[in-house]
Amino acid sequence: MLCLCVRAALRPGIAQPCRILRPVTQIPERSLVHQGGLPKLPVPPLKQTCERYLAALEPIVSKEELEHTERLVQEFLHGGVGQRLQKGLERRARKTENWLTEWWTQSAYLDCRMPVAVYTSPGVVLPRMNFQDQHGQMRFAAKLIAGVLDFKKMIDTETLPVEYLSEKPLCMDQYYQILSSCRIPGPKRDTVVNYNTGQTPPTHITVVHNFQFFFLDVYNSDGSPLTVDQLYMQLEKIWNSSLQTNKEPIGILTSQHRNTWGKAYNNLIKDKTNKESVRAIHKSIFTVCLDAPMPRVSDEMYPSRVAAQMLHGGGARWNSGNRWFDKTLQFIVGEDGTCGLVYEHAPAEGPPIVFLIDYVVKYMQQTQVIRSPMVPLPMPQKLRFNITPEIKRDIEKAKQNMNIMVHDLDVHVLMFSHFGKKVPKKQKLSPDAFVQMALQLAYFRMYNLCCSSYESASLRMFKYGRTDAIRSSTVDALEFVQAMQDPARENSEKLALLQKAVQTHKENTYNAIHGQAIDRHLLGLKLQGIEDLTSMPEIFMDTSYAVAQHFNLSTSQVGSKTDCVMCFGPMVPDGYGVCYNPMDEHINIAITAFNSCEETNAANFARAVEEALLDMRALLEDTATARQ
Ligand code: COA
Repeated sequence: MLCLCVRAALRPGIAQPCRILRPVTQIPERSLVHQGGLPKLPVPPLKQTCERYLAALEPIVSKEELEHTERLVQEFLHGGVGQRLQKGLERRARKTENWLTEWWTQSAYLDCRMPVAVYTSPGVVLPRMNFQDQHGQMRFAAKLIAGVLDFKKMIDTETLPVEYLSEKPLCMDQYYQILSSCRIPGPKRDTVVNYNTGQTPPTHITVVHNFQFFFLDVYNSDGSPLTVDQLYMQLEKIWNSSLQTNKEPIGILTSQHRNTWGKAYNNLIKDKTNKESVRAIHKSIFTVCLDAPMPRVSDEMYPSRVAAQMLHGGGARWNSGNRWFDKTLQFIVGEDGTCGLVYEHAPAEGPPIVFLIDYVVKYMQQTQVIRSPMVPLPMPQKLRFNITPEIKRDIEKAKQNMNIMVHDLDVHVLMFSHFGKKVPKKQKLSPDAFVQMALQLAYFRMYNLCCSSYESASLRMFKYGRTDAIRSSTVDALEFVQAMQDPARENSEKLALLQKAVQTHKENTYNAIHGQAIDRHLLGLKLQGIEDLTSMPEIFMDTSYAVAQHFNLSTSQVGSKTDCVMCFGPMVPDGYGVCYNPMDEHINIAITAFNSCEETNAANFARAVEEALLDMRALLEDTATARQ
């Protein structure tokens, strides 16, 4: 996933000042033993990217546009400009640990001026818990906090097990960025600060209840983490001292457009007390949002409602002010058994977040009781804010804008229960590619065309790697979906086309995770041009490029052991955001769109995806029976 405004941030002609920065923080020395052995992200060959770019355009642009672009690409490749930019990129790759990551983090996240809520911050929906009151809520939150602190031990002692993809060790840097960090708004570009590396790493979390923030120290004086019972007692104190429901929702300011929030932020921290309170939130290890109950909905609609609550909090009347959206990790626990999280995307992708969830969920299932030390604990400190008339005006504006965002976001979570990844696996098909082809089929059925489609691919095989894109709308995918719509075609032919499309997707996945996809390379060439202050090469000013960058389908697989699903907003105003978790026997799929776009509808798309998956299984079964 990447954010809507990457393209805006990279408009030709707008020079981006690019300093060579180190990644947000450095991993402590001992972990560098593994990190040091990781390969550097390669710069793909220019000719390969040009060829693959043209192939990617084929299913999504007209014949005339493609012919025009072919000429531009030849000119770029052989006219000297492309080679010069490529050499610049190769030089950058030699001089930096990762030629892409800093550029990517800035252009995809920190330069992005759209609100982080809905536009870039993903949410995670966890299954409904079986508590229905504040005691259950606090008990659950206390266990959850204890679980995260247990996870943190592995960060602090650098004992986190190294992850593998295709038998290759992955860069673990992102894990070191998700705790004790926060995004801070800037006038043109934000920053992310990680406080775990300083001389006095934080020992507190922030808890927010009824829009009131609290500083909660989560370690005893001997350095041991508070036990679940101690945490429960502290949460109870917080609850009891935040019963008023008429407080200003100061946190809602963080949901604003980044320039607006940047200005409001400077105004807010002019006051010394406010500045200290904001700093306490920034520095905290993470935030726990104790949410008020939301309106009840049917069981079927429940996951969709929770997804919305995770993404934006439900609006100014509900829990949108019960957040600090800049905070990297915010766990959300509702009085009504709702739970999940929202995270600010700049420091990390979904997989480390979900790994943490899996760890915490397992921890919470343990029944072992740890005896609490018999020491009185200090009262958690309420973080005070002095609300001047100007701040009050900023809050009112933020409330209005949040309500507009809430009304505009269309969310539908499909708990697809008919089958899971075992079915495609049994047919020797990659489950991920199978789901991607179902998304292609669903889209084609709704719009009778293929669109530019993005699937996140991990670049963590490389040091400080983030993501590249797998383009799922291939020529083979188009042939498959066209055949599926043609009653004259035999099932055996449709199956052969499905297998071919899946195979092509798998190959594209292999290329992407090995650093040979096209999107980040093209971005790098473009940014190199901007850095060199040369005029923008024509291939980046071309209609085909704009079409290719307009991802109507922005998708990602984020798998987990826990029965959860990640969700995120669409990348373009007329697109869908689709995140899925294929489990053995079922698939959780979160779909978003914007209500302001008449052409899109998350529930309709969910139905089309369900039908596509069922039709594809029927195809597998039908042809398997025919073979017998
Ligand atoms: N036959 C049988 N089984 C197959 C198969 C085949 N042809 N192809 C794959 N499988 C199996 C795999 O071995 C794997 O098995 P497991 O469940 O035991 O692990 C399983 O099917 C899943 O493989 P597949 O569906 O192909 O997907 P993947 O796990 O390789 O994931 C990506 C593909 C692109 C999602 C992954 O490489 C990636 O990059 N993930 C990161 C995404 C990300 O960062 N998102 C950011 C969100 S903010």
